[in-house]
Amino acid sequence: MCGIVGIVADPDIIGNVAPILVQGLKRLEYRGYDSAGFALIECSSNKLLIFKDKGRIDKVVEEYSVHKYCAVCGIAHTRWATHGEPNTVNAHPHVDCRNEIAVVHNGIIKNFAELRQLLEERGHKFKSETDTEVIAHLLEEYLENGDSMWEAFKKLVKVIEGAYAIAVVYAYEPNRIYFARKVSPLVIGLGEGFNMIASDIPSMLQYTKRFVALNDGEYGYIEPYRLYLEKSGTPVEWHHRVMTVTWSIEDAEKGGYPHYMLKEIMEQPRVLYETYTGLMSSRELEKAAEILASADHIFVTGAGTSYHAGLVFAYFMARIARRPVITFISSEYLAYRSLDHSNSALVAISQSGETIDTLQAVRSFKSSGGRVVAVSNVVGSTIPRESDTTVYTRAGPEIGVAATKTFLTQVLALTSIALALAVHTGSLTKAEYTEAMRELRNASHAASSGIDRSIRLVELLASSLRSKNNIYVLGRGLGVPLAYEAALKIKEVSYIHAEAYPAGESKHGPIALVEEEFPVIFVGVPPEDELLEKLQSNVMEMKARGASTIVIGTSSYRELEGVDFYIDVGNYSEILAPYAVVPPFQLLAYKLAVMLNRDPDKPRNLAKTVTVE
Ligand code: F6R
Repeated sequence: MCGIVGIVADPDIIGNVAPILVQGLKRLEYRGYDSAGFALIECSSNKLLIFKDKGRIDKVVEEYSVHKYCAVCGIAHTRWATHGEPNTVNAHPHVDCRNEIAVVHNGIIKNFAELRQLLEERGHKFKSETDTEVIAHLLEEYLENGDSMWEAFKKLVKVIEGAYAIAVVYAYEPNRIYFARKVSPLVIGLGEGFNMIASDIPSMLQYTKRFVALNDGEYGYIEPYRLYLEKSGTPVEWHHRVMTVTWSIEDAEKGGYPHYMLKEIMEQPRVLYETYTGLMSSRELEKAAEILASADHIFVTGAGTSYHAGLVFAYFMARIARRPVITFISSEYLAYRSLDHSNSALVAISQSGETIDTLQAVRSFKSSGGRVVAVSNVVGSTIPRESDTTVYTRAGPEIGVAATKTFLTQVLALTSIALALAVHTGSLTKAEYTEAMRELRNASHAASSGIDRSIRLVELLASSLRSKNNIYVLGRGLGVPLAYEAALKIKEVSYIHAEAYPAGESKHGPIALVEEEFPVIFVGVPPEDELLEKLQSNVMEMKARGASTIVIGTSSYRELEGVDFYIDVGNYSEILAPYAVVPPFQLLAYKLAVMLNRDPDKPRNLAKTVTVE
């Protein structure tokens, strides 16, 4: 779970690639930020220079004055530790004994222990505890045995096992970067007189708009004017795979907000609109509905926030499409591995399209005959590429580690799938479907209203909650997955322990913790005629134990008694309520983080894209 970037340039076109590497790497910091490092091939001497340390990129750049060096070629890495603690020695790049080969790697080399032992027996001295270092030594070993670097690299790819995205530079070949991809993402950026390689597109967007996403098992090299690709020893023709991306660099930057998280919360009305119009002008929903309609069983999976979107989907599938679905957290896919999935479909939700647990669930499902509908935000990412069809959210790049805008766009895409399926299977007429889709167009207004009506109140609420150690978030019906998402958001960015339960479940254990001033937030959603009265009892139970009771919900919940603080988001139907109710929780989490001096964009111990199991 790391970020990689590399660039090789014609010196007449780009005199020094070091500043580009720094910029590119900073855009990848969301993938991990334990340590950072650079390998530069110096312009005049062709010497390999390595700068690396624990800590964030800016610190490392400043410490070594990386900008001051002149390089024609280089690779860089931001790390989220998997093997070995985050320190200077374990930071990437890793080098061979002679300091001529530098490697950056994202993923895990499974057979590194045996390779390391073999290499140590042959006299290689290792400096770090990482799995990555074996790559540098293995290449050195092959070179010593008379192979060219390209031959050595091809042998390496055959020998190493596991998940990897690798980039390698060699001091004697200053105009080449070698790379290989298996499981972990890697994209080539095609420039004029230079080429780049990185873990994602936004990190290269300032320099090029043309990209080739590498497929599993591909490896090769880039030079300033060339991309060469191979798979299993056979050259790969890639020209027809070039995609031109229309995101602007502003899309990937803060746009005047102090944090990406706030910018991304505020962008929700726009990206909901874009997702809606994108879905309406494509055949994505139809294709997804066809697959789901023909399945006997429908499974739904995702991790974290994406899983919560999956729970909202399950709710609407039952309510609107009248189809029960089986939801599971993607890391638990093994529970279903012995089933025959030939008559099943899996809906795999992943904003990044790269989460390894979700990818493994997709692979396991496909290998037993199932068909997969992906819901993702990243075109060309691995999960969509391995699925039968994809419904895309159009949220644009999400840089804040905590998912915000991608959650609501997932909910929109998934609700649309449920509606499309409902018309396919006859539980909605064509006219009812058209009406429901027309209503869904207002998701964007509902999000604006949720933001506008809560922005000042959230400030007050956050001031009263900032000193708390624990918060409960309780809901019923559709409010349950929204409560899960609210609690996740609060805990991950503010580090206040927040726990969500179905409100009815609170009596079965959680209420034991409730004492004077214990904050309990209730999520109030439609259908109010079924839920309000029941939630009233839960409010009273909590109040009787001295809890501070808070409601974030539709206007009808103003009727509730015993509530200390309300955020009324306006009255919305069941399919629109999530867009109005969720933003106040996101803003609350954000405000708490800022008040408590946490960095909401980069919560500790987390990485944006989790590519290790
Ligand atoms: C929480 C969060 C994570 C992700 C999870 C799945 O705010 O961002 O829980 O939702 O890691 O990521 P994707 O959707 O990229 O598969």
